Amino acid sequence: MKAYRATIIDFAKNPQNDHSTPRYFEDGVLIVNRKGLIHKLGAYKDKELQRELRSQKIPLTTYKNKIIMPGLIDVHLHFPQTEIIASYGEQLLTWLERYTFPTEGKFKNRKYGDVMAKIFFKELLRNGTTTAAIYGTVHPDSVEAMFSEAARLNMRVLGGKVLMDRHAPDFLTDTPKRAYEESKRLIKKWHGHKRLSYAVTPRFAPTSTPEQLEMTAKLMQENPDVYLQTHLSENLSEIEWVKALFPSHKNYFDVYKAYGLVGRKCLFGHAIHLSEGEWQAMRASDSVIAFCPTSNLFLGSGLFKLRTAQAHQLRVGVATDVGGGTSFSMIKTLSDAYKVIQLQGENLSALEGFYLATLGGARALGLDNYIGNFDEGQEADFIVVDPKATPIQKLRDDHADSNIAERLFALMILGDDRSIYETYIQGKRAHSRD
Ligand code: GUN
Ligand code: ZN
Repeated sequence: MKAYRATIIDFAKNPQNDHSTPRYFEDGVLIVNRKGLIHKLGAYKDKELQRELRSQKIPLTTYKNKIIMPGLIDVHLHFPQTEIIASYGEQLLTWLERYTFPTEGKFKNRKYGDVMAKIFFKELLRNGTTTAAIYGTVHPDSVEAMFSEAARLNMRVLGGKVLMDRHAPDFLTDTPKRAYEESKRLIKKWHGHKRLSYAVTPRFAPTSTPEQLEMTAKLMQENPDVYLQTHLSENLSEIEWVKALFPSHKNYFDVYKAYGLVGRKCLFGHAIHLSEGEWQAMRASDSVIAFCPTSNLFLGSGLFKLRTAQAHQLRVGVATDVGGGTSFSMIKTLSDAYKVIQLQGENLSALEGFYLATLGGARALGLDNYIGNFDEGQEADFIVVDPKATPIQKLRDDHADSNIAERLFALMILGDDRSIYETYIQGKRAHSRD
């Protein structure tokens, strides 16, 4: 076993599933067992914990001026878009055509995918992200590259091959039959391997024919425990396009619903411009939303209504949506989330923000029995955060005078990759800043 001493915060599961129950130890200890699972969380001065540390001779690592929290969870991003992050001047549909599609074409080459997968996962770990739901390209080899590297790093990752059989360049389209067969083969190989889960990934309604959506539904029926991930109601031109392509459907969400592509394991990126009927249909199906603040601002898509989603009791995770999003850092993403909520006349506390990026994300992915907090038996994915990473952050953190809500808020607004001192995957250190 191993023990880690620092300021520690996580969020307890409670029946309301909100963020109202942070567990905070100004001087805490986290004990991890040989299997890389959480053994115990407590105060350093706790007598019983002290006795266990001594009697079992558990080695103790002390992190001075650091905060330990669960690993961050990014519920939506695109591995092949790593190199087009920060591409100028477009909104969604022209951004896809001008930057995304040409770049995704390169992933036909497995070697290229392998090189980019190394860079991609290193970037996740540098930013303290320990779990992510990831899009590949239409090429099965992109998913092979992605899952191979995730498996090597022993990360808990979801992902899948993009399905597209229209409205994209020829070099990026498959067919309903190929989408089915290639996904089926990838599911068989990767779903449940180590800590990996498969997510069937139709890109979005405009790039799949009705025949492909039917094939997607068949895949989901035959593999009831895999996930589905797609995009929904991100951009106004996109929504008009969906209306024109699917005139008999009530609305955008109804297209997915009609094909049986909604439910508790179905993850919808963006969901910005929903009608009341769509909110209710999402609730009725217990579908999940990925809130992508940096992307929604960068692509000029709109302001996600987090409070409306919560009023409808929807599960929401936070996501970078790289390369539409502008950072791999979930901390920077939370900073933009705060501003998105501010523009709607409300606030997002740091406690709620870090809840959403940890246990909230785990709940969104239905993985809260494995990751997201430090309950006994959970997988020990955690980060060691440096709240004093820069001179200004040190000044601000000192000024907060050990008020944890204030310290975390300054971290959420000022922090980035420099804030991540170390990242642990199942009890093993996988990244060290210094
Ligand atoms: N909608 C369809 N494809 C994409 C994509 O790659 N990124 C974003 N942000 N939205 C999409
Ligand atoms: Zn996306």
